[in-house]
Amino acid sequence: LRVGLLFGGCSGEHEVSIRSAQAIARGLSDPANADRYELAPVYIQKDGRWLAGESAIHVLSAGVPLKLGSSDAPADPSGETSALQAPTVAAVERWQSTAQVSGVDVWFPVLHGPNGEDGTVQGMLTLMQAPFVGSGVLGSALGMDKIAMKMAFAQAGLPQVGYKVVRRSQVYSNPCIFPKLCDEIEAELGYPCFVKPANLGSSVGIAKARTRAQLEAALDSAASYDRRLIVEAAAPSPRELECAVLGNDHPQASVVGEITYSSDFYDYETKYTEGLADLHIPANLPEAIARQIQDMSIRAFEAVDAAGLARVDFFYCESTGEVFINEINTMPGFTATSMYPMLWAASGVPFPELVNRLVKLALE
Ligand code: ADP
Ligand code: DAL
Ligand code: MG
Repeated sequence: LRVGLLFGGCSGEHEVSIRSAQAIARGLSDPANADRYELAPVYIQKDGRWLAGESAIHVLSAGVPLKLGSSDAPADPSGETSALQAPTVAAVERWQSTAQVSGVDVWFPVLHGPNGEDGTVQGMLTLMQAPFVGSGVLGSALGMDKIAMKMAFAQAGLPQVGYKVVRRSQVYSNPCIFPKLCDEIEAELGYPCFVKPANLGSSVGIAKARTRAQLEAALDSAASYDRRLIVEAAAPSPRELECAVLGNDHPQASVVGEITYSSDFYDYETKYTEGLADLHIPANLPEAIARQIQDMSIRAFEAVDAAGLARVDFFYCESTGEVFINEINTMPGFTATSMYPMLWAASGVPFPELVNRLVKLALE
């Protein structure tokens, strides 16, 4: 099968997408998938231009300091990709010989964030009548937009923190509205609260506000990213738990994982700087809480009409015993050391088998 690997994309998570695509390319080229797949990488530049062939291959291999002629992974001086292994020379040669966009049997849109994880690319592939890995237009769009996602979760009876929807025009256009808006947020949600652009990921544009001045600055900043924003009450001292889902109409939940860190919250730097966050798989939890999270993950997956894969994220407030759903990610981070593949590895599905299953699910 010829797999069109779409990566990069016009979003703040462009670089993360390249790293996920590198890992998926390696998984599809793994000996366990021998002779199953040919890869056709297609790189979407930040300006929206699509590059296939040599240029795409170059970007896919450039994130890994690969020295042709050696299959060893040299140390990455930046530290950014040191957890990744270089693709084998054979794999690179295979990409080179197969990187034509024509004749793709199935697409793997490894795109995070707007213009890729939000239903846009899924709409185009649907229009082309081309099968692809992951959620369709509706699941992708609902999973991306934090406001629509919360409405779907509320309808499904999934517990969430209190929140308020804000429009950019309330922040920027009318000087009379802004103080009233901040008063309402203070009265309804209190401090601390989280201000987020409705459509983004990897914590880009998100700030935690503890004072009026921080709230004003956070609204101003988030409004520069999106026309719609969401402000949320902070979950009190939450443990951050994540669960991976795999399947279409009969989705399965993985074991539950936990992320710990010492920063104020799980921000971009903490997510993508090696050593700042620790993954615990499985999380050390009472059996009942783990089961509750697995059950809520499946309900969340179905609530947004997700397909193929998703990672569902939770806040567990141990002092009160409450579990709040935070969000669903329909194309979760997918490097070899990302939570999604690691949760499946711990649940008995190794990385090459996982990517193989995802391609199969796309063709169901
Ligand atoms: P993204 O889609 O960018 O990952 P999230 O909504 O998951 O955005 O928020 C990123 C991080 O911010 C979370 O993982 C958590 O650390 C913190 N956070 C977000 N919302 C809340 C909240 N309501 N209460 C406590 N922490 C939060
Ligand atoms: N949006 C990033 C890639 C994640 O959720 O893992
Ligand atoms: Mg998140």
